[in-house]
Amino acid sequence: MAFGFVSGGLLFLCAVTCALLDFVNTLQQSSKLPQVPIVVECKTQSLFISVDIPSLGSEPRFEAVDATGAYPITESYGPQCGYTYSVQSLLSRAVLRASYFSCHTDNQNDEVFTFMFRVFIMDQSGKESFFNVSKTCSVPPFSPREVTCEENYMEVSVRTDLPCPTAGSIKEDFSAAYGVAQSSAIETWQVMLQQEGQQSAVMSTEDAATLGYFIMVTPGRLVFRTSFGQPYASVKMVNNVAVEVIQATVFFRQNWMVVMVDLVAACSLDEGSFDGYRLHWRTPAVMTPLVVGPSELRSEYIGMGVDGEVVDEQAATDRGYSVTVSDETVDSSIPYAAEGGIRKSFVMDNVYNELYMVQLTYQQTFVDQHGVVTKHNVVRQMATPPIPRPPFSVNQTTLEERVFQVYLGNIPFDVELVSVELNGQEISVLTAAQMGYSITRVSEGNNTFAYIIRVPFEDQFVVKQYISEGYFEYSLEIKWTLNIMPQMEAYYHYSSVSTFIIDALPPVFDSMCADNGISFMKDHQQYDYLWDIAIGSYTLNPQLASERGYILTNDSTTLILDVPLFTIGYIYEDITLQQFYGTFELLTKNAKTLEIEQTSSKRCLFQTTELLVCSTDGVMTVVSDITKAVPSADPARTTLLDTSCRPQETDEARVLFSFGLNTCGTRFQVDQQYVTYENEIIFHELYSTDTRPVITRDAAYRVTVRCIYPVRGIESLFVDRKFSADTPGIGQIKDPVKVPPQMLKPMQPQKQTAMKPSSQSAAARKPADYARVGQWTPPLDEYAQWSLGPNGGF
Ligand SMILES: *[C@@H]1O[C@H](CO)[C@@H](O)[C@H](O)[C@H]1NC(C)=O
Ligand SMILES: *[C@@H]1O[C@H](CO)[C@@H](O)[C@H](O)[C@H]1NC(C)=O
Ligand SMILES: *[C@@H]1O[C@H](CO)[C@@H](O)[C@H](O)[C@H]1NC(C)=O
Ligand SMILES: *[C@@H]1O[C@H](CO)[C@@H](O)[C@H](O)[C@H]1NC(C)=O
Repeated sequence: MAFGFVSGGLLFLCAVTCALLDFVNTLQQSSKLPQVPIVVECKTQSLFISVDIPSLGSEPRFEAVDATGAYPITESYGPQCGYTYSVQSLLSRAVLRASYFSCHTDNQNDEVFTFMFRVFIMDQSGKESFFNVSKTCSVPPFSPREVTCEENYMEVSVRTDLPCPTAGSIKEDFSAAYGVAQSSAIETWQVMLQQEGQQSAVMSTEDAATLGYFIMVTPGRLVFRTSFGQPYASVKMVNNVAVEVIQATVFFRQNWMVVMVDLVAACSLDEGSFDGYRLHWRTPAVMTPLVVGPSELRSEYIGMGVDGEVVDEQAATDRGYSVTVSDETVDSSIPYAAEGGIRKSFVMDNVYNELYMVQLTYQQTFVDQHGVVTKHNVVRQMATPPIPRPPFSVNQTTLEERVFQVYLGNIPFDVELVSVELNGQEISVLTAAQMGYSITRVSEGNNTFAYIIRVPFEDQFVVKQYISEGYFEYSLEIKWTLNIMPQMEAYYHYSSVSTFIIDALPPVFDSMCADNGISFMKDHQQYDYLWDIAIGSYTLNPQLASERGYILTNDSTTLILDVPLFTIGYIYEDITLQQFYGTFELLTKNAKTLEIEQTSSKRCLFQTTELLVCSTDGVMTVVSDITKAVPSADPARTTLLDTSCRPQETDEARVLFSFGLNTCGTRFQVDQQYVTYENEIIFHELYSTDTRPVITRDAAYRVTVRCIYPVRGIESLFVDRKFSADTPGIGQIKDPVKVPPQMLKPMQPQKQTAMKPSSQSAAARKPADYARVGQWTPPLDEYAQWSLGPNGGF
């Protein structure tokens, strides 16, 4: 760069700024302390003012004040004159940074700077008031060249070694001198704006100013400032970093001499990035566009900090700041939430969000081969995007404990659980503790926490619902209300847990074979009411038991059901003269749906005495002791109506006949309700004529046996000749010889003895009403008209 100076126009400009000093001091004294929280600080490169915005107020506005008047700092005026105004709404504050070389700042020898501002604040009623802010800063000497990259402008200042006249010598001529400077001196100044590959433009400083290129002279420096993206600026890639460069040459012609000053500003355009952990900002290791002419630059020092101050190495290490140089690029980074920045949490769409903002301050010095230092100053506001921190819940329920345990994780350190809603019942955390709920806060590491709540299944607010087959559903909806502290901003999270538990199984019966029946028993359980116990389609209750002759014993702990043989509900199989099997089945039905959920079936072997069984597939099986009527009778000489049907088995006294209901001469009768099948066991007397016994047609003894079925329960009776009944038929047996026909009484259920036919009367002796299943009443009208079916039965 080249500089050399002649007095004249420059001197006058210089004089104007220096002469302002006294006036400014007066103003400073008259300013009052502001009524709103405000911070004013002298930083390395600028004055920093931060004003809190009252919660209901509007953003403040600033005016820069100097001897010539007050100048509102607007969006367009700020970058021209070295002011940066921003509103940080999340932090409710407005910030103004003013360059030491800003337009309306009093400059004493480039060392002491005095600022004057009016800060306007509008109250709720819309009334605007203002207060004065003034500050004087003494700053260390500037480097020969200072390049500053602010948020809204680039500024370069170079030392000109031009002596500034003392304020006193100028003061008297102030007004006159100012006029001269305006009319003549500036006029002779020219600015050449250069852009690579384009034709240079030469214009007066005034014209340049109207285009947004601002040039001013201080006691010892020449300052050039412009906002970003101006017409003569260019963007270059330097080591993969976009850099905006603007180059101006200021020259002044006076008679025989021309003074030229090269002013180059270059700023990295990197806006910063966030990798999830750190905020990064990149700039070329050597800002080569700052090289002017044949000189070289090398980087001598890099420092970083925040809020306009570079921090020392130790502080940087402690805070985790880092500067790394690779591939000729400097990467400055600041870890999330590090000291120096501002972490802010807030609720957005019912989600906790946080972000971190920091105002990076970067300083680098370059030295050229002549030892001339260039200082590069950067202010870069960086912020992470809002980082949502949604809570998550984990079901930690353990069935064994019968307690819902829900874990709510990812709760930042500045959040407090204030209340929970259990199935719609809101309880504050304090009350919950008093009510005995366990709510604990545990650390998850990394400054986050979790809450764990425990609610027993049997808790009053837990919803319990019977599903089926002994399953209960326990469910709990939890609404967690969380507050960000201290601002008490609330957000909510919902957790829902439910579990299915087999709390009730259908009762299981123990069963036992007895001599004369089957015995079922079970202990009472809590959920017995969920089931019906049934025999077929009939629910067991004391009434049914007494109707059918079951013996029901139901005390406070146990239910016992004794089912005597030949009561309704048995199925008989494998009948011989010696033994047969009887099976009885208890059904456990869902009391609501009546679905069968369990069957308890018991099959027992019994000794045969006498019986009559009418099976569902149309077979009558009868075992009868014929010697009771005719003591000398020979069982082998008995037949059915069809005399070719002989007993399948006999012993000394008993016969066993088993025959299809459409065979052996079986008669049948149908009325509205019943089909009755009847046959007879006939004992044939043996007459001895000659030596050969003869069986006569006249029977000496007849026993009538019947099977009675309800009509509606029989299928395809006459169609395909296959017999099929819903339920076993009812058997009747009678001895027409000894007793008049009658319905035989059901066996009286008596333990141990019930199965033994009594010998006291013929009626009682007959095994009666042998086997019945199904709730229908057998016909009581005795022996109506009988017809002989085809084929001796059907
Ligand atoms: C602020 O300074 C101006 C002079 O520029 C003065 O007139 C005014 O009274 C001051 N206001 C306050 C509130 O101090
Ligand atoms: C804490 O954060 C570090 C990175 O900052 C990560 O590596 C670690 O896994 C985190 N620990 C937990 C418990 O989240
Ligand atoms: C919660 O956990 C319990 C026990 O592990 C499990 O039975 C249940 O199904 C879970 N419920 C939900 C809704 O996640
Ligand atoms: C047995 O008694 C209990 C009450 O003790 C009653 O709930 C239940 O219905 C009874 N069971 C039968 C089959 O009568």
